[in-house]
Amino acid sequence: MNKKITAIILAGGTGERMNKDIPKQFLKLAGKPLILYTLEKFDKNFAVTDLVVVCHEDYLEHLEEIIEKNGRKKSYKVVSGGRTRQESSFIGVKNCPPGTDLVLIHDAARPFVDDRIIGDVIQAADEAGASGPVIETGDTIIVQKGEYIDRIPDRNKLKRIQTPQGFRYDLISRAHQQAIENGIAEASDDCGLVVALGKDVKTIEGSALNIKITDEISLYLAEKYIQLEEIADEE
Ligand code: CTP
Ligand code: MG
Repeated sequence: MNKKITAIILAGGTGERMNKDIPKQFLKLAGKPLILYTLEKFDKNFAVTDLVVVCHEDYLEHLEEIIEKNGRKKSYKVVSGGRTRQESSFIGVKNCPPGTDLVLIHDAARPFVDDRIIGDVIQAADEAGASGPVIETGDTIIVQKGEYIDRIPDRNKLKRIQTPQGFRYDLISRAHQQAIENGIAEASDDCGLVVALGKDVKTIEGSALNIKITDEISLYLAEKYIQLEEIADEE
């Protein structure tokens, strides 16, 4: 595919739920900053042409240092993030290099994304305009009312959506603009903004491994997984 494909990596959050001194994307995983695993996945992917990293303003220098120290193949732009994920995401879209055909919007806190997911999202976004990776819900999901169960929706219709989410540039730009005009400011996900426009979003198969590091337990599991991979590589 001969297209300009910009990956926007969202690293503008502070990681409240992790409750550490620094935002979770800068914590070390097996000795290496979490965000570096994520950046490398997109840096090494053959289809991605450019990267825009949206970073919390207090960590801009720290991030530049991490990127410079570790070498890179692609052009990076580092920009200061917003108050909400939605704001950071729109800042990323507005800072894409001119001529961008497709964008991938990805959480810095998902270091285990892989080339298969990236490739499938790109293909589906090119075809349908927008796409996102989904997985089954292992647990039954309930709707709660106070401390009680209100109802239990059919689990087969419920899926969990991950990132990267892929879009034609004009479409995601319009979706963000429209969201602001409609007073939507705290959307946790970009595909939702396209759905709100009444446009199609094609789903592709995500991966159970593509977890978002959110709390102490997910951080612990991520570290264990990396250690196991390292052992497997040595054998
Ligand atoms: N994010 C962002 N700008 C914000 C908030 C979040 O770029 N203002 C990014 C985070 O850095 C993260 C991704 O969006 O990579 C997903 O958000 P989440 O997992 O909620 O991270 P945080 O908001 O940092 O964590 P918490 O909600 O626990 O505070
Ligand atoms: Mg958050």
